[in-house]
Amino acid sequence: MSSDALGSEAPLLEVRDLVSGYDHVRVLEGVSFEVRDRQIVTILGSNGAGKSTLLKTLSGLLVVESGSIQFGGKSLVGRPPGEIVDAGLCHVAEGRRLFRTQSVMSNLELGLYGTRLSRAEEKRRLDEVLETFPMLAERPNIAAGALSGGQQQMLAIAQALLRTPRLLMLDEPSLGLAPIVVDQVMAVIQKLRDQGVAIVLVEQLVERALEVADIAYVLRSGRVLGSGRPEELQGSDLIKRAYLGG
Ligand SMILES: Nc1ncnc2c1ncn2[C@@H]1O[C@H](COP(=O)(O)OP(=O)(O)OP(=O)(O)O)[C@@H](O)[C@H]1O
Ligand SMILES: [Mg+2]
Repeated sequence: MSSDALGSEAPLLEVRDLVSGYDHVRVLEGVSFEVRDRQIVTILGSNGAGKSTLLKTLSGLLVVESGSIQFGGKSLVGRPPGEIVDAGLCHVAEGRRLFRTQSVMSNLELGLYGTRLSRAEEKRRLDEVLETFPMLAERPNIAAGALSGGQQQMLAIAQALLRTPRLLMLDEPSLGLAPIVVDQVMAVIQKLRDQGVAIVLVEQLVERALEVADIAYVLRSGRVLGSGRPEELQGSDLIKRAYLGG
């Protein structure tokens, strides 16, 4: 087998035995999973399972106690958040952290903060995300806090896309959204995957996540309880155990 063929088979993100947490609280007790190019991988699990902690650890916001994180063949362990974003791993945090009193356009420009791109490249990227999210282009001067929940989620995703991620991690993008708006968010996620961005999707809406995902991992108490293809997991004992205990 050529090294090229081997390279194309290596996962984009490979996490092994990851242990991390907060100060004196260990949350992740040895998590392993992987994401391949153009995959939507969903991380499921009940409240407190460690899903957000996992994303925060991958994006460099929490210290890795032990284990490995390989992304595009390089280790991310110990690297600061800015370098991890530059490497192509972006995180849209739970609860859409926008500057609510600032306009849509200012929020997008803040998404480019620190990139030191040429004006032309900045403009090219802004035009590209506004094309993906026409509803943002329609109201560039409105305060982010005045957008609907779904529009705010789109803005948060657009902000991350300005960094041209290879892998986008989304923490509960459907939170607080009406079902029809959840449809729109899921459609955007699938479109991004089709455009070549791999996705890690953390979701409370298990059925919705399984509809769009290629692979699902189920977390419980900081460990991977199991994983599989959505069609294997729908209605499975694994899912029931993860959410109901036992
Ligand atoms: N800042 C923090 N300091 C200390 N412990 C924390 C902190 N944030 C979360 N934890 C703890 O880590 C554990 C996992 O929390 P985490 O937020 O990762 O869960 P989650 O799976 O994202 O849950 P949810 O579905 O409710 O968002 C919980 O026991 C929680 O109390
Ligand atoms: Mg969470």
